Amino acid sequence: MAQTIVVSETTDSLASAAARKVVAIVVEAIAAKGQASIALAGGTTPGATYRKLVSGANPLLSDWSRASLFFGDERFVPLDDPVSNYRMVRENLLEQISLPLGGVHPVPTHLPSSDDAAKAYEAELRAWFEARDPDGFPSFDLVLLGMGKDGHTASLFPGASSLEEERKWVVASPPGQLPPPVDRVTLTLPVLNAAKHVLFLVCGADKADAVKAALDSDTRVSDCPAAGVRPVRGSVTWFLDLPAAAELS
Ligand code: 6PG
Repeated sequence: MAQTIVVSETTDSLASAAARKVVAIVVEAIAAKGQASIALAGGTTPGATYRKLVSGANPLLSDWSRASLFFGDERFVPLDDPVSNYRMVRENLLEQISLPLGGVHPVPTHLPSSDDAAKAYEAELRAWFEARDPDGFPSFDLVLLGMGKDGHTASLFPGASSLEEERKWVVASPPGQLPPPVDRVTLTLPVLNAAKHVLFLVCGADKADAVKAALDSDTRVSDCPAAGVRPVRGSVTWFLDLPAAAELS
């Protein structure tokens, strides 16, 4: 696993640096195989990066027709709920781009339970990847992730049984310690670790301890789930602002 740390002076320059990396990965994937599969991050930090991708007269990436957008995790709420990751992505990205029908794959949070949604999303992922990749395993070209101050990433929370999952691609999860206190649906570590490129987008002094723990190879994954994101054959790039990088030597 190749690991890179990019420290930016401000959250704005972090968003610009991360957006440039996203475009480089997407353009490379499309050039290589005519498509790019992206698992988007939720929470609030990624919003600025999404806006950088599409803002201005000459957006960094103008042709999204060959991109397929998925979600690394989702809150089990209606897609127009204020805490929905889909809503955050719609407002900061989807409303500014034109995607082919079926280009974005929301988690089906209209289903009766988060378990139902996880099973349905896994079936959707399997169908999509099995139709495109010979081995059928979900190797996303790009996975975008945030990280909570408790070290969670996607909706993989400290001490959660979802961290032990080795077979399923998508699982339901009860809320973690941090808000919002709603059930979740999340990709599992085997899927995150099958990615070709993983970008972490992390800002703020309150995350400095978790960043240090996540980058420490001795950290137990149950204590800091982000430490479990170590793509077997992929790369990980951490985009940090100065406060989030404060504990790094
Ligand atoms: C979620 C997110 C989660 C997020 C972290 C950091 O659904 O909660 O996917 O993993 O990335 O909680 O969130 P902020 O970027 O808002 O700090």
